[in-house]
Amino acid sequence: SYHKYKEDVAILKELGFKVYRCLAVKEFPEDFLFGAAGASYQIEGGWDEDGKGPSMWDTFAHTPGKIKNNDTGDVACDSYHKYKEDVAILKELGFKVYRFSISWPRILPDGTPTKINQAGIDYYLNLIKELKAAGIEPLITLYHWDLPQYLLELGGWLNPRLADYFGDFARICYENFGEYVKYWITLNEPGTTCTQGYEYGTHAPGLKLPGEGVHQCTYVSLLAHAKAYRIYEKEFKEKQGGKVTLNVACSWYYTATDSDLDKEAQQRILDFYCGVYAQPIFKGNWPQIMIDRIANRSKLEGYSFSRLPEFTQEEIDYINGTADFLSLNMYTSSIVNYLDDQPIGTPSIWNDLGVAGTVNSSWPTSASSWLFSDPPGIRYLLNYLSKTYNPPAIFITENGWSDLGDLDDQGRLAYWKGYLTNILDAIVEDGINVIGYTAWSLLDNFEWAEGYSQRFGMVQVDFDDANRTRTLKSSAKWYKEVVASRQIVD
Ligand code: NOJ
Repeated sequence: SYHKYKEDVAILKELGFKVYRCLAVKEFPEDFLFGAAGASYQIEGGWDEDGKGPSMWDTFAHTPGKIKNNDTGDVACDSYHKYKEDVAILKELGFKVYRFSISWPRILPDGTPTKINQAGIDYYLNLIKELKAAGIEPLITLYHWDLPQYLLELGGWLNPRLADYFGDFARICYENFGEYVKYWITLNEPGTTCTQGYEYGTHAPGLKLPGEGVHQCTYVSLLAHAKAYRIYEKEFKEKQGGKVTLNVACSWYYTATDSDLDKEAQQRILDFYCGVYAQPIFKGNWPQIMIDRIANRSKLEGYSFSRLPEFTQEEIDYINGTADFLSLNMYTSSIVNYLDDQPIGTPSIWNDLGVAGTVNSSWPTSASSWLFSDPPGIRYLLNYLSKTYNPPAIFITENGWSDLGDLDDQGRLAYWKGYLTNILDAIVEDGINVIGYTAWSLLDNFEWAEGYSQRFGMVQVDFDDANRTRTLKSSAKWYKEVVASRQIVD
């Protein structure tokens, strides 16, 4: 109608109407939760202060050669000391919500409930109270990758008992912070930990266990998430009334051609990357295509069992229905095509998947090799997820752009403008129930294996300055206007 409004008016006239109601400008809903996100290891620093125990990321980053320039999160943005300044910035930007994570070893130094570190509890209580006083809702991620080192030594994400340890940690968080918290995410992007940490070895704990580690880690992650969800449901829900979910990270995937094989490849990658978590929590069990393909390849490889762990019926039921909303991290798109069945040899998730991916050369590139800007992708993905899993609500908990850190970050501004425009269309035009958006990230921070070489913040942090001075970038000033007006502004 932007181009065809004359035709519309001619129709109205032909029908003899006296009035036409139209919305001039699209707006985000009044109660839409705009904000930004961060995570403990990436911003806090204070890695061994006030009784905090070591996490597997402390160990990994302290191992020479693992992180670009041997950067570490030892000090990071120093938010352990500067959280009041962070909250003041959030307030100045008019945000309604702040997504942050709790460092497990700051609360439980060795990960077990045998010793609770009161200084850790106090830190998060102070942060939450500061947020509340500024009228900002805390959205808490219980686990954003900083596993207590001791629990890694007990087997980490390969050990099904981790679910019990995580359950105890979650309970302690609900007990201490729950009265202030409406939204909880159990695990952040378990898919990234399981592929980068247990298949490729580029993230902590740095294990290369192709085709096996990734699936075992996924299995244990789902058990741990469900445990934390069920504990809340049984012991806290009635009193605290919050919502709990698992975070799902997914991209949009276009088909290279209209061939059936490419369309199947598209479906397969959606199932392997979105469905591997979304299906067990919203519908029950793994996507069938994963069960079939991995069983088949395992057999050809000589195994008498599938490398994809099988859920018992009891586990399927325990995990099914453990999401009060869908937490979505979405950044980019790719174009996929069918890959001829790979020769039997070393197992790997890509061989299990049987898909090859490319990108469109017209998509703008970021400082991260995997991140391209394709704004319509998010609208396609929101429609797909909504139709396939029918979640009660969707909260976009990450979406963002990397560059080298310029204050005038026009690339990031253009990226957010494009993505937010499509999110708004998904809400207004397609009727998708998106309830909030926390941009990644509030601050420039420690970008995992890339250290400080890639910057995601709407606020610049000067890592050469002991004070870690924070300065708003152009994108933050623009986003502030969007939040205030609930409209996409220029
Ligand atoms: C996903 C992760 O949750 C976050 O920690 C990371 O910094 C961003 N993506 C960007 O890579």
